[in-house]
Amino acid sequence: MTEAATLVIKGGRVVDASGERDADVVVVDGRIAAVGADLSADRTLDASGCIVAPGLVDLHSHLREPGKEEAETVETGARGAALGGYTAIIAMPNTTPAIDSAAVVRQVLELGRTAPCDVFTSGAITVDRAGEQLAPMAEMAALGVKIFTDDGAGVQDNRLMRRAMEYASGLGVTLAQHCEDDALCGGGHMHEGEWSARLGIAGQPAEAEELMVMRDIALARLTGCRIHFQHLSTARSVAMVREAITAGLPVTAEATPHHFTLTHAECAGYDPVFKVNPPLRTEADVAAVKAGLLDGSIATIATDHAPHTTESKELPFDQAPPGMLGLETALALAITELDLSITQVLAALSWVPARVAGIDDVHGRPVAEGEPANLCVIDPEVTWVVDGAQMASRSTNTPYQGREVRGRVRHTVLHGEAVVVAGEPQR
Ligand code: DOR
Ligand code: ZN
Repeated sequence: MTEAATLVIKGGRVVDASGERDADVVVVDGRIAAVGADLSADRTLDASGCIVAPGLVDLHSHLREPGKEEAETVETGARGAALGGYTAIIAMPNTTPAIDSAAVVRQVLELGRTAPCDVFTSGAITVDRAGEQLAPMAEMAALGVKIFTDDGAGVQDNRLMRRAMEYASGLGVTLAQHCEDDALCGGGHMHEGEWSARLGIAGQPAEAEELMVMRDIALARLTGCRIHFQHLSTARSVAMVREAITAGLPVTAEATPHHFTLTHAECAGYDPVFKVNPPLRTEADVAAVKAGLLDGSIATIATDHAPHTTESKELPFDQAPPGMLGLETALALAITELDLSITQVLAALSWVPARVAGIDDVHGRPVAEGEPANLCVIDPEVTWVVDGAQMASRSTNTPYQGREVRGRVRHTVLHGEAVVVAGEPQR
């Protein structure tokens, strides 16, 4: 046996949950072997001027496989994730077929095995995400699934949601909710308000999200089940979650970059690239989401990476599917647009979501000797211009086309292997 090649990440500033220090990081055989000054190894990754951090963790990636491989595959989604600094992503279950059984969970995990990022999957709460019958959560949990959601839809039935929560608490897993009341949203394609009225597009009221947030907080109180609110988008949703956390309920939440950077005014040109669920909201909502991230009521940033083909996004606004790309821009948008320190940004993108996902034994770990080497190296000062055509994703539907942002991933290391070097994918 030949000795494993060693790698040193040199000249950077290490930032993790325990603080900050200037240090080189040596990686051997998938693990961090040393953290300190003037270290060397067979191969050097230059980190001068950079932050060396635990790899990012995305709680909300639509990878489209099985079923919509023309929009994305596990492989291409994971490559975009690695370029975005992620070492772990959680696949959403709204595939065809839905990820609602052990067989499909196995299929997705198998597809992820050779990907340049660890691919975990969520499982559906209900069979085919149809909201009628509980999915076999236990057989999926037995394969390591720790988060269940019907994402793309919320669980509408109160009684079924209560039973799902009781079942989930017994299994020790977390339920994640896409909060949207179908009856109130029915036929809406954007936020209901000033812009939907002006544009003549049917809207979805903020209350459609808020009613479900309110119900699930009540059910968390009733059942003790951990609930994670996906892509919170309204000021009152944030306020309710803040209050629930203060009351000691087992509640966490995520915000997406688009909900802290864009408003419904973006829909003025009828461009479906700005169509998303939940929809882009008002300036006051954006401010509330930012405030929630600042005070920790929203402890995680998740992408809701939702690739769609060019053909489908070229349909008229009311016919195009909702969703936008996120994996390759989330970190830069957080650095550019949020009034947070780099440590706070990394908490929301790495070690807190790792905990929510139940993968904090391997991801979001401290950068310390003996830990798994899942790392990203970020140049926090470099500016660049977003271009969907340059992305690893099979789709190009970024709402940030042409926008200048600050902060970019230089290298990503997955289980000790450099999968992104100088911004270039290595596999
Ligand atoms: O905009 C969205 N797109 N929201 C969702 O909940 C689903 C997602 C998708 O799958 O495209
Ligand atoms: Zn969703």
